[in-house]
Amino acid sequence: MKDLFPVIIVVLYLVINPSCISTLTCPPNSKIFPCTCDSDLRQVTCEGQKFTTTTIFLKNIIRTFHDYVETNERYFEHLLFHSNITDFSDINYPTLEEDVFGEISFKKIEIINISNFENINYKAFSTKNAQFVEEFIIEHTNLSKVYLGSISLTNLTYISLANNKLTELPENIFPNSEKLKTVDLKNNQIVIVSDRAFINKPNLEYIDLSRNRISRIPPISSLRNITINLSKNDFLWSGSGGYFTQPTHIILDDNNFIYLDQSYFERFLNPIYKNTLSIKNNKIDCIHCNNKWLLFNNNTKLYQQNIYNMECESMTRSFWESNIEDFSRC
Ligand SMILES: *[C@@H]1O[C@H](CO)[C@@H](O)[C@H](O)[C@H]1NC(C)=O
Ligand SMILES: *[C@@H]1O[C@H](CO)[C@@H](O)[C@H](O)[C@H]1NC(C)=O
Ligand SMILES: *[C@@H]1O[C@H](CO)[C@@H](O)[C@H](O)[C@H]1NC(C)=O
Ligand SMILES: *[C@@H]1O[C@H](CO)[C@@H](O)[C@H](O)[C@H]1NC(C)=O
Ligand SMILES: *[C@@H]1O[C@H](CO)[C@@H](O)[C@H](O)[C@H]1NC(C)=O
Ligand SMILES: *[C@@H]1O[C@H](CO)[C@@H](O)[C@H](O)[C@H]1NC(C)=O
Ligand SMILES: *[C@@H]1O[C@H](CO)[C@@H](O)[C@H](O)[C@H]1NC(C)=O
Repeated sequence: MKDLFPVIIVVLYLVINPSCISTLTCPPNSKIFPCTCDSDLRQVTCEGQKFTTTTIFLKNIIRTFHDYVETNERYFEHLLFHSNITDFSDINYPTLEEDVFGEISFKKIEIINISNFENINYKAFSTKNAQFVEEFIIEHTNLSKVYLGSISLTNLTYISLANNKLTELPENIFPNSEKLKTVDLKNNQIVIVSDRAFINKPNLEYIDLSRNRISRIPPISSLRNITINLSKNDFLWSGSGGYFTQPTHIILDDNNFIYLDQSYFERFLNPIYKNTLSIKNNKIDCIHCNNKWLLFNNNTKLYQQNIYNMECESMTRSFWESNIEDFSRC
């Protein structure tokens, strides 16, 4: 009896402390093919390489979970639906269906490398599962527009829709996601960004809009120090874009700026805002009269500290090495 004492303690501990034993029972993998369920990691993985059929009904697969998973265990860490090779065209999964997740909630949802995926039903999430989503990632698909209706992904902090086919960011694209910190939209075909695309996002810290076709700086405000990456777009000038009043860091590397137009940038660069600009690899004409205002502002190079990487096109020097004589004809 004395020898059994430690064993009894361990057994009691396991019974009393439920976090120690997984009470999650996954459905058998054969019932959720081509997905697998890991009860320890609370992860569901659906893998393109294993497909033998061409069509997947994620909604039916998720419904199978209702039959096996206890009501109080229906929260998962991660859903990964992917093909580990891009353009795996044998998978037919064009839409995240209406109410696809039912009673099952996921903290992180990833859909990656599904070439014909193109739509998120505006009722894909329901009030039962939407509030649990913290990271939502759809990359390398044919997604061309996003309309989330009145869905409230209230706990969302990270969204990536990078490497898709988006062309437009409409007003309030991620409604009610006020905790959103990072938005990755790089490498789409975005031309139009609504002035109100990112309204009510006080926690935004980083928006990646690089590698798109944007030609106007969108007004994006946050209560935080925010970085907006607009590298590799179609900028020639600011496009009379919106204004910023918090510390905003705009990256405009690899665009086509010849000069920085005073009507926009003078206000953006006002020292009281502590905004900065990076303008590497543009086509800056260092003797263009429209650049004169930057250099001789009240006889100081006032903006030199806010503007990074302003190199002259076809001259191996920085703009800040210019002299008043360079502008004598202006
Ligand atoms: C997507 O495909 C690329 C290869 O084209 C692969 O390297 C990557 O791991 C895939 N991503 C996922 C999540 O399967
Ligand atoms: C993709 O995943 C399958 C298993 O599902 C594996 O056999 C295959 O080697 C993987 N391919 C790549 C390119 O990683
Ligand atoms: C992607 O979308 C375009 C336009 O909607 C369509 O023509 C094309 O066939 C789609 N590609 C795939 C792989 O489904
Ligand atoms: C939302 O996030 C907060 C903190 O990040 C967490 O305490 C809360 O449980 C989350 N709500 C849901 C429904 O997951
Ligand atoms: C901005 O985007 C470019 C192009 O995608 C990338 O190379 C660069 O690292 C990004 N910069 C920052 C600071 O995120
Ligand atoms: C704001 O962000 C920039 C760039 O990420 C950083 O260099 C700077 O220190 C930050 N400032 C504050 C006050 O957080
Ligand atoms: C210009 O510089 C002078 C002296 O340095 C200063 O008193 C004045 O306020 C400056 N004016 C502006 C518009 O910055």
